[in-house]
Amino acid sequence: MGKYLERAETVVKRIEELSSITEEQGCITRTYGTKAFLEGRNKVYDWMVAAGLETSFDNIGNVRGKLLSDTLNAKTFVIGSHIDTVVNAGKFDGPLGVLMGLDILEQLIQSKAKLPFHIELIAFSDEEGVRFHTTYLGSKVVAGSFESITLDRKDANGIALKEVIAENGGDYLLLEKDKIEDWLGYFEIHIEQGPVLYERNIPVAVVTAIAGQRRAEITFIGVAGHAGTVPMDMRQDALATAADFIIETEKFALLKKDKLVATTGKLEVVQSASNVIPGKVICSLDLRSADLEVLNIAYEKIKAICDEAAEKRKVLVEWNLVQQTTPTLCDEKLTNQLKDSIGKSGYPIIELVSGAGHDGVPISAVSPITMLFVRCFKGISHNPLENAETVDIAAAIEVGEGFINMVLSNKL
Ligand code: GLV
Ligand code: MN
Ligand code: MN
Repeated sequence: MGKYLERAETVVKRIEELSSITEEQGCITRTYGTKAFLEGRNKVYDWMVAAGLETSFDNIGNVRGKLLSDTLNAKTFVIGSHIDTVVNAGKFDGPLGVLMGLDILEQLIQSKAKLPFHIELIAFSDEEGVRFHTTYLGSKVVAGSFESITLDRKDANGIALKEVIAENGGDYLLLEKDKIEDWLGYFEIHIEQGPVLYERNIPVAVVTAIAGQRRAEITFIGVAGHAGTVPMDMRQDALATAADFIIETEKFALLKKDKLVATTGKLEVVQSASNVIPGKVICSLDLRSADLEVLNIAYEKIKAICDEAAEKRKVLVEWNLVQQTTPTLCDEKLTNQLKDSIGKSGYPIIELVSGAGHDGVPISAVSPITMLFVRCFKGISHNPLENAETVDIAAAIEVGEGFINMVLSNKL
């Protein structure tokens, strides 16, 4: 464990360094395309160059470090995760996988390993989707599934995605050229972001599937009015309607808690004032399940809950589906190799389903994928308290490196 611990310390040092680059001092916020994001990606670029990788930015802003094989028509095996964050994030969600990938490649370079295929380390530019309310911008480009309609999406300041790409030195007309053609596989290391490993006192786990998602933006349009003069039974209060919707949705999700989760994480009372009855409210819905049928049925049920809440208060509702992904299965062969590596390293082998989304979701459409989860403190994530112990990172380096060596020796 000694040598892995030393390497894990370097990984953590880099994670700390990256976490100091933020849009807002006192917290970690590095959303796609911002000044902090650019500074962060430059740092990752420099690390990749120093490691000896053939490094570049692609048009969506991913940092891509290649270790090329001299085999003719070699395929590409990608190791990746993301470097954008949510608002007021933790340090580990995303950067852990990128910097552990970098560590594994540094060792491969130092050992002058013969490569039967190309290996590419990718620091994806936008997994969280905070700025444009759409996730996986970076990995969709690499997978070739980026939809050009997304280019016209605007951020909260009215700046379109295509403007951000151009400002940051990319050419949005060339996104298509950034896709990888010959995939061999994809491997991502990520903190669990849930409590199972922490509760069971186990450092790592394999991921068997990633939950599917539906995200919607819902606008309730009532009638704004004077808070002092309109009687309680003559109102069309958009906020009270949203409240009914949120509570009823939570009740429904609680009944199905073994199968799905539903969250309203954003709520905007438009032109709000304490003495005005809310006339317009916009809120989000994030619905997830690993079972497609459950996801589809729950989505329709929650839409019906919304219509009912609106009808009861004579409020109009606009429902806008902003994102959907189907549940994703990890590749059995790659995952079995990963399990072998866990066993060889002397850790118990457990399987988890990921409720969080990951860049492997769009990539799974074009490549076999596998993921290794690392225990994090009480499962806390999307929160500054997010933490992974160095000793667990060391365990994950041992397992991850063992896995990559198996793939390299063609035992797939
Ligand atoms: C990404 O972290 C997600 O929301 O699942
Ligand atoms: Mn996240
Ligand atoms: Mn993540």
